[in-house]
Amino acid sequence: VLPYTAIAELLSKVSLAAFVTDLADAIALTYEDNKLDSITRTGWPSPPDTLEVMGCQSTDFTCVKLISSNPSLTASALPTVTGTMVCTEVGTDTARLVCDAAILTPLRTASSTAVIMRQVVPDVERIGIIGAGREGACHGFTLATTLKNVTEVLLYDLDPKQSRRAAREVTELLARNDVGAGRQVKVYNIDITNIESIYTCDTIVTATYGDGSVISNRPPNRLADGTFIAAIGSDLVGKRELDFTVYDSAKFIADDLTQCLHEGELQHAAIKFRLDTAGTGSHRGTLLDGRIVSVADLLSGNAAFARRREPVTVYDSTGFSGQDLGLARVLLRALKAENWPTSVWNPPRSLPLTSLYKDH
Ligand SMILES: NC(=O)c1ccc[n+]([C@@H]2O[C@H](COP(=O)([O-])OP(=O)(O)OC[C@H]3O[C@@H](n4cnc5c(N)ncnc54)[C@H](O)[C@@H]3O)[C@@H](O)[C@H]2O)c1
Repeated sequence: VLPYTAIAELLSKVSLAAFVTDLADAIALTYEDNKLDSITRTGWPSPPDTLEVMGCQSTDFTCVKLISSNPSLTASALPTVTGTMVCTEVGTDTARLVCDAAILTPLRTASSTAVIMRQVVPDVERIGIIGAGREGACHGFTLATTLKNVTEVLLYDLDPKQSRRAAREVTELLARNDVGAGRQVKVYNIDITNIESIYTCDTIVTATYGDGSVISNRPPNRLADGTFIAAIGSDLVGKRELDFTVYDSAKFIADDLTQCLHEGELQHAAIKFRLDTAGTGSHRGTLLDGRIVSVADLLSGNAAFARRREPVTVYDSTGFSGQDLGLARVLLRALKAENWPTSVWNPPRSLPLTSLYKDH
């Protein structure tokens, strides 16, 4: 049972750079898993906030996450995204892991973005990030760590204090973790006066509250051919971060195709493409002759997607439950390697009620 303090202690023992690298590998495997069966994400939306349940099962574990996003509570001491993940063993269905998901979710989301970028734009050098909160900062660190040609990370936030803080945090985390081969990564805090520098980056990550478009493809801000956009913030009905002008010139990679058509950037792009948003009923699938491809199809080799010549590639990230299963597996391995003390969660059958419910 891991509250956030225990997770922080575990991560400090295994090294954050090693953790996100292992995580990316473990997440990639979940997309190839034909036995993975996920439930439709559901919850109690109260826009702009929401509380949701998501989960999946494979042959080893069932992994469920209760996750909330509360951008309306930015003045509170809690982070915007909080949650709890529970992982049970298939067969006995007993809990193997119960943990905080607030500090882990942005690391798993960023590692999932790294999986796609390693495949599609492995040589990326400059990463611009719009929305420098937890997701933005974790993307800065994780992408600079896992993509070996990254030399610059630019962080912009509507709140300048937040972009300054994220730039400090990413700089220090990179300094503490060896990014390899004497490579220096420069981290810049961008303000509104030089926001156009984000458009000069070969990759742009958007990790805002998704309450309006933050990237367009119209003068004076044109996206260069080959730009890769990771749209992280649109993960609920009504949310969006990209302007229609971006959709016009883009091909899409959906972390969970049906979910993206329902609540990702693709919910809006689908209108433009006159698509049925019912999706395929699965996280897999390919639409419009490869213009829209699921991560699962991309990783298993999708020639139609590779042939598409749209100048911009958008990774539509809504949060696929397999990513959490990958995270749970990496955590369980790390806990075992560290001989972490286990908690017995459920009582044995033989335990008499009288020993449980004692009289005072
Ligand atoms: N795709 C996924 O798997 C996934 C997972 C978790 C969270 N999310 C989503 O990612 C988003 C960010 O989550 P977080 O935990 O980083 O929240 P956060 O509150 O830590 O960070 C969000 C930041 O975006 C900034 N921001 C808001 N509007 C902006 C704008 N128009 N321009 C620039 N900056 C702006 C805020 O000031 C804040 O600093 C949320 O929408 C959340 O729902 C997606």
